Amino acid sequence: MKDAFRLDGKVVVLTGAAGIIGREAVRIFLEAGARVFAIDRDAGVLADVLGPLHAGLLTFAGDIAQQASVQQAQQLLAGRWGNADVLLNNAAAKSDNFFEPFESYPQDDWNQVLSVNLTGAMLCAQAFGSDMAARGNGCIVNTLSIYGISGPDQRIYEGSQYLGRAINTPAVYAASKAGLWGLTLYLATYWGHRGVRVNGVTPGGVFSGQNDIFASNYAARVPLGRMAEAADMAHGMRYLASDAAKYVTGHNLVIDGGWTAW
Ligand SMILES: NC(=O)c1ccc[n+]([C@@H]2O[C@H](COP(=O)([O-])OP(=O)(O)OC[C@H]3O[C@@H](n4cnc5c(N)ncnc54)[C@H](O)[C@@H]3O)[C@@H](O)[C@H]2O)c1
Repeated sequence: MKDAFRLDGKVVVLTGAAGIIGREAVRIFLEAGARVFAIDRDAGVLADVLGPLHAGLLTFAGDIAQQASVQQAQQLLAGRWGNADVLLNNAAAKSDNFFEPFESYPQDDWNQVLSVNLTGAMLCAQAFGSDMAARGNGCIVNTLSIYGISGPDQRIYEGSQYLGRAINTPAVYAASKAGLWGLTLYLATYWGHRGVRVNGVTPGGVFSGQNDIFASNYAARVPLGRMAEAADMAHGMRYLASDAAKYVTGHNLVIDGGWTAW
């Protein structure tokens, strides 16, 4: 009997492939039998970390906030493997002044983050999803955030650091993810009758070297008592991309250890 969770032969486009969650998603989708078209702005990491992994991997270094770059990616894919079966909109940007306080948040940073997290996802959905709708089959999974569906608990940031810098969750991040959830619902109903499923994965905080203060403040708020692992997210993406979820659309799969259950 066919395993409904397998993705053999599927062409999967993944943005933000060189990131913490993206790298793990590359590994898990390849293991599931998919071919992965990995897009990221960080060409060095793409080549070093992802390049040697697998013959079923094709990489593209480009900027998803630029329509010309997304179109170039789509043309490269069309010439090599044909159309995408799955699009994982997973890239997110951290601008230079990303962690500035709301009261003085620079408009350039606001625009830059939205241009990747929200507009970039829209451009990729246009470029890769339109073909899916034309063929009557496909699937999009957007990576959202708990901060798109709930406000941050400001208490966890006191004394918290990441890569030597104080951290917080800026408003633009929350707004971009809430917007992406809106786009998810919109496209689920817009393309549903044309066989394209559109869903979201909402990750809780993934441990990636935050200092002990942050990790313990965060874990104390989580019913399951720990930060997430990248693989927790990639498994959820795989489920939504697979035939096991063939009747699932417009859904937000919240993978947060219970953070939003209080
Ligand atoms: N890590 C977490 O704790 C967490 C929690 C909730 C949601 N998320 C979401 O999960 C997704 C992946 O997060 P991550 O932790 O792997 O982040 P990350 O910063 O490690 O990876 C993001 C990747 O996106 C790429 N990128 C940025 N701008 C781009 C552009 N213009 N064009 C192409 N690529 C671009 C970066 O180079 C990077 O490799 C993001 O959407 C993020 O918002 C992460």
